[in-house]
Amino acid sequence: MRCVVANWKMNLTSHEARAFCEDLLLRMAPDPGAEIGIAPPYTLLHQVSELVRPKGIQVFGQNGHAEPKGAFTGEIAMPQLRDAGCSGVILGHSERRQFFGETDAALTQKIKAAWQWDLLPLLCIGESLAQRDAGQTLAVLGQQLSILAETGPGPLWVAYEPVWAIGTGRRAEAAQVVEAHAFIRAELNRHLTGTEYRVPILYGGSVTPESFPELLGLPEVAGGLVGGASLDSRKFAELVKQAG
Ligand code: 13P
Repeated sequence: MRCVVANWKMNLTSHEARAFCEDLLLRMAPDPGAEIGIAPPYTLLHQVSELVRPKGIQVFGQNGHAEPKGAFTGEIAMPQLRDAGCSGVILGHSERRQFFGETDAALTQKIKAAWQWDLLPLLCIGESLAQRDAGQTLAVLGQQLSILAETGPGPLWVAYEPVWAIGTGRRAEAAQVVEAHAFIRAELNRHLTGTEYRVPILYGGSVTPESFPELLGLPEVAGGLVGGASLDSRKFAELVKQAG
């Protein structure tokens, strides 16, 4: 089954979120044939969960701390995400890495904590433009995935999000996506060999209803992690339909 996840980032108020969810549910087939997720800001988690979980849509946190509680002002703990109705958590988004100093060492602990609290980690990886131009793309992806040697195996989704394609309207070209996803699959096979886990690899970065069908046709593209286009219920419903 393909997966489509809306990453709302730091957008929408409760009024807007309600309108989005109601419209999405009206537009969606009762059995959409795809795994759907929404990652709202923390203040909206309870509300969005109550609206969409009865319809089979999963709710994700956008980040989570490795400690279950404590003196970490401004952070949110995995058990709090669960309590708010989440079944998964986005970890390692490039905006967290870039603007909030998220490190691979911290991510190792966060993935373990997510598993401990029965949350599905959606691990984001991807290279910057400078790294791509320097021919380092695969090395960067390999490095970012090497934390799986520390975490050990477990349920996981991975999103390949080239940093230069996020919010820029400049989607990665098919050949670039194919190369990256094939490499990610090979690395996942190496880290998870002999285990039961089959990890879907999503693409993220300027996904729109115009570009999604082509992306979904590429090998090892199991779906999309969507920012801008996921703030519009009509566009997101279209993406869900395309994935189904
Ligand atoms: P855009 O779809 O706005 O490029 O954002 C992608 C993203 O960062 C999803 O996590």
